[in-house]
Amino acid sequence: MNILGLSGSLRRDSRSTALLRAASELLPDGHSLTLHSLSDLPFFNGDLEDDVPASVRALGQAIRDADALLLASPEYNHSIPAVLKNALDWASRKSSGAELRGKPVAVISQSPGPAGGARMQMHLREVLSTLGLRRSPGEFAAGSSNQRFEGSELVDPDTRERLRGHLASLITLTEETAP
Ligand SMILES: Cc1cc2nc3c(=O)[nH]c(=O)nc-3n(C[C@H](O)[C@H](O)[C@H](O)COP(=O)(O)O)c2cc1C
Repeated sequence: MNILGLSGSLRRDSRSTALLRAASELLPDGHSLTLHSLSDLPFFNGDLEDDVPASVRALGQAIRDADALLLASPEYNHSIPAVLKNALDWASRKSSGAELRGKPVAVISQSPGPAGGARMQMHLREVLSTLGLRRSPGEFAAGSSNQRFEGSELVDPDTRERLRGHLASLITLTEETAP
């Protein structure tokens, strides 16, 4: 199965993006993760829908082609970073060509604080449910992330195991709901 990884942080050394790279390493054989950068996506503007930008069409196509989505994000002011919310706003529009309804999704987050982005996940859950995605059960929120990474590599063995388990749930959900 092909999982599309989207990161809510554009930072070069982003730990959220690093979680996606770790996820790619931890996936069982036969499954792959493709990272799709959101850095070229313009802010949603209804005027752009008359002639949809290539970066929006590319995102729509990547979502359509994926069996499941893996969203990795930090928490900004207890909520969803604009980068990720903007991508979901675009993807919710027919003009993007994405199809979100029924798409399996898992959310992972990290933060140097103790909650690991759990408050952001509460808001994101609401948005994902509004858009009709199927979210895998369980939660992966890595608090104190500065202690779990070396540079931008996830090195903490317990966190890697938890991530592996979270990916297994996403795979199960995707296989159960495959057409
Ligand atoms: C604008 C802004 C708001 C933030 N708000 C929170 C917050 O509400 N809770 C939290 O735990 N960390 C907060 N942080 C710290 C982020 O968790 C930290 O920068 C993030 O984990 C970095 O993620 P990245 O490595 O993927 O870029 C905030 C950071 C920024 C830049």
